[in-house]
Amino acid sequence: MKPTHKLLFVLCPMLVLGFIYYSSGKLHLHVWGQKSQRKAEITATSTSISSSATTTTTTRTTTSTTTTTATITTSTTVKRPGVKPIAARMKLDTEMESDTTVGRMVDSVYDKQGFLLQLDTKLSLELMYKYGNLSEGACKPGFAAAKMTAIYPRFAKPAPMFLDRNFKLLGKVNGYLPPFGFKTQERIIDGILTFTKHYGLGEELDSLTCKRCIIVGNGGILANKSLGSKIDDYDVVVRLNEAPVSGFGRDVGTKTTMRITYPEGAIQKPENYEKDSLFVFSAFKPLDFKWLRHMVFKEKLRGVEGFWKSVAHAVPREPNEMRILNPYFIQEAAFQFIGLPFNNGLMGKGNIPTLGTVAITMALHNCDEVAVAGFGYDMSMPHAPLHYYETVKMSAIKESWTHNISKEKEFLRKLVKANVITDLTRGI
Ligand SMILES: *[C@@H]1O[C@H](CO)[C@@H](O)[C@H](O)[C@H]1NC(C)=O
Ligand SMILES: *[C@@H]1O[C@H](CO)[C@@H](O)[C@H](O)[C@H]1NC(C)=O
Ligand SMILES: *[C@@H]1O[C@H](CO)[C@@H](O)[C@H](O)[C@H]1NC(C)=O
Repeated sequence: MKPTHKLLFVLCPMLVLGFIYYSSGKLHLHVWGQKSQRKAEITATSTSISSSATTTTTTRTTTSTTTTTATITTSTTVKRPGVKPIAARMKLDTEMESDTTVGRMVDSVYDKQGFLLQLDTKLSLELMYKYGNLSEGACKPGFAAAKMTAIYPRFAKPAPMFLDRNFKLLGKVNGYLPPFGFKTQERIIDGILTFTKHYGLGEELDSLTCKRCIIVGNGGILANKSLGSKIDDYDVVVRLNEAPVSGFGRDVGTKTTMRITYPEGAIQKPENYEKDSLFVFSAFKPLDFKWLRHMVFKEKLRGVEGFWKSVAHAVPREPNEMRILNPYFIQEAAFQFIGLPFNNGLMGKGNIPTLGTVAITMALHNCDEVAVAGFGYDMSMPHAPLHYYETVKMSAIKESWTHNISKEKEFLRKLVKANVITDLTRGI
């Protein structure tokens, strides 16, 4: 054998071994990353317990951590007399180690979408401490995002509400066609945003350090509940499509911070628009941006083929009152939160979230507290009204090609069950 061959002969297995070592290290790191946080929590608990070794069982249970395994391990270790704090801590560590290396923990704690399986409304110790001193009813900074992260660790809060002049840099959406992004529509959007010149909620709301938002759905469940003044108490009141306010104030309130809409859903009669609300546009197909350009530049709309029902021909709003909703909320709601079919990132059967869920997703990223009202259908009452503003009955609801109402409801239930959002009408 030539020396170079010999060298190769030795080098190859080493490379392979090196790779295996590296990848196991990576795997281990991943598991460890999840564990280390728990370990820290538990270590903290066990230290606090051992430092007051004579305390009773009751205080012990109140100080134990949130996960069941942790609680059990902690109490068994502590019950044994004469165990030194360090030894107790080491025992905990090794127990956790064996637990996680099996990999059971990671799989069984979260569902397919990445949400915690066991949802409850309890606050973590950390949040209890953070909000403990606030007076009853005060806005809790960061509450919705913190609760969301607790049940869905992948949640990352930053995501701007509306597109601004830097929209092309939004990496999560610039590669998708509408409705999941804005690919192919960049020039139209650029033109619109140059003209509207405003990309926020307005000075007063943008400067609030804590914002409470409510998304008002259009469900008949809102009727006759006199929730109007409660809805008006929120800093940001979001309404959808053509849901009227005038004449329904007692039940749905009178304040509208923004109205999110797509062409077919927009109010058609100019006199039906309320004063002082932002017109927030959400696109579901490429053609929708063309429509928006006409509305913003107040151009006459010629030819309306391509829309699935008649659309408004004018929107009585100044350009500085118009916004484009970040399409990321449609994408995230569809593929990450609800788990609708990805379909190569294109619109397909049953993969479009409803506007209400898109609005809730937006609020999770941009509001400190999030409430909803008028969501959910009670199918056991087919004669109840479908919407609060018309007499169409629940039984008129059809199988939808675009939406998957039942899967969407599963997602919204998780949010309500874990108290990430508050459902004023309890329809979800
Ligand atoms: C809450 O109040 C207590 C007692 O007044 C104080 O010691 C503690 O630091 C406060 N906590 C927060 C998060 O402000
Ligand atoms: C609300 O109350 C009015 C007047 O009492 C009644 O006519 C209407 O049917 C009620 N609507 C619902 C949804 O209960
Ligand atoms: C909704 O999702 C369920 C479960 O994935 C599926 O069986 C059903 O066909 C979907 N409905 C629509 C309208 O796509």
